[in-house]
Amino acid sequence: MSEIKQTLLEQQLKSYIKAKGPVSVRAFMEACLYDPMHGYYRQGNPLGAEGDFITAPEISQMFGEMLGIWCVTTWQAMANPVPLQIIELGPGRGTLMADILRSLQRLHPNFEMISVHLVERSATLKETQKKTLENSLCPVYWYNSLGDVPEAPSIIIANEFLDCFPIRQFIKTDRGWHERVVGLDEADNFAFMVGSEVPRGAIIPSRLFDAEQGSIFEFCPDFETVMKDVSRMAQRHPMAALFVDYGFEGPQTGETLQALRSHKPVSPFLMPGEVDLTAHVDFTALAALGIANGLKCYGPRDQGAFLSQLGIGARAEILVKNASEDQIEKLASDVVRLVAPEHMGALFKALCITSPSLEVPAPFDQKVLS
Ligand SMILES: C[S@@+](CC[C@H](N)C(=O)[O-])C[C@H]1O[C@@H](n2cnc3c(N)ncnc32)[C@H](O)[C@@H]1O
Repeated sequence: MSEIKQTLLEQQLKSYIKAKGPVSVRAFMEACLYDPMHGYYRQGNPLGAEGDFITAPEISQMFGEMLGIWCVTTWQAMANPVPLQIIELGPGRGTLMADILRSLQRLHPNFEMISVHLVERSATLKETQKKTLENSLCPVYWYNSLGDVPEAPSIIIANEFLDCFPIRQFIKTDRGWHERVVGLDEADNFAFMVGSEVPRGAIIPSRLFDAEQGSIFEFCPDFETVMKDVSRMAQRHPMAALFVDYGFEGPQTGETLQALRSHKPVSPFLMPGEVDLTAHVDFTALAALGIANGLKCYGPRDQGAFLSQLGIGARAEILVKNASEDQIEKLASDVVRLVAPEHMGALFKALCITSPSLEVPAPFDQKVLS
């Protein structure tokens, strides 16, 4: 990589590593995403066709409408408490919330008892959300953290929120499991290196002790804070949360850290601060934290099955009735993209987490752990 293409953050990270030594993958990711001056989420608008990635609500309004239906049935399963807070974590452009609210307005008689609470770290995206939701019939409030949202009966929605959180990576060597770190090679390029040893019994699940040499294990420390904040919302009030993301049922080995620029996979070391870095979500670890915090967890269910059971097929048929030829084609391909296992239908999953007294919200039907 030539000097001229180095981002300011790259220069800063390299100077830091030269002075202090390699940094953990988590610290590298944290700087790339959230550095106050040059982090990815401090910059422009990363979502959509012109950004780096596209999310389900940006593909089709049907995704948000199905989540709106889920909110209606969940609100009913909670015995319709009023007023109700709809909280969204990481609302992107506000598209998902706009679609959810449209469904709720159509389907729930107490729509006017809703308030909307958006948890967003990016100042730029907050401005975009304000524009998208400027005609909202419900009051809308913004926060930097879920910990700041008032306690009240709540439904929490998070789509592609958890994959943003920095992960730690560990690598199995002939001397056991070690932290994976980012240092500099002889040519001064970023390179993965082996850091300090992790004591047996700490972090690495016991079934992975004897994993093959070279195996990678990933762990997201911030999930604990997220789950503590979610459980706070359930302490005195009914609460149901829906996390939709790409992920797996862990524990598993394998590297899922990925970098995207203009919709193309690139090296995680390319242009720090200007490239999106994410990791797949370990839903089992998340559910275990929910249960440890006194909550109930259901799922994860594949996104395809989840959306199909909520009625995405029937919704598409209704939309087709007033659509042009082009629109009909797009509606069909959108459903395939969201539901088909070879597209988003199997990799993306939905996990539901509720306060302990709540009945299972449809279409979930089983606990992951007990
Ligand atoms: C991948 S985008 C998903 C956007 C939206 N949910 C969607 O589906 O289109 C991630 C969103 O989470 C926000 N975000 C990332 N990290 C965050 C954090 N630690 N706290 C609050 N919001 C965060 C981003 O700014 C962005 O709005």
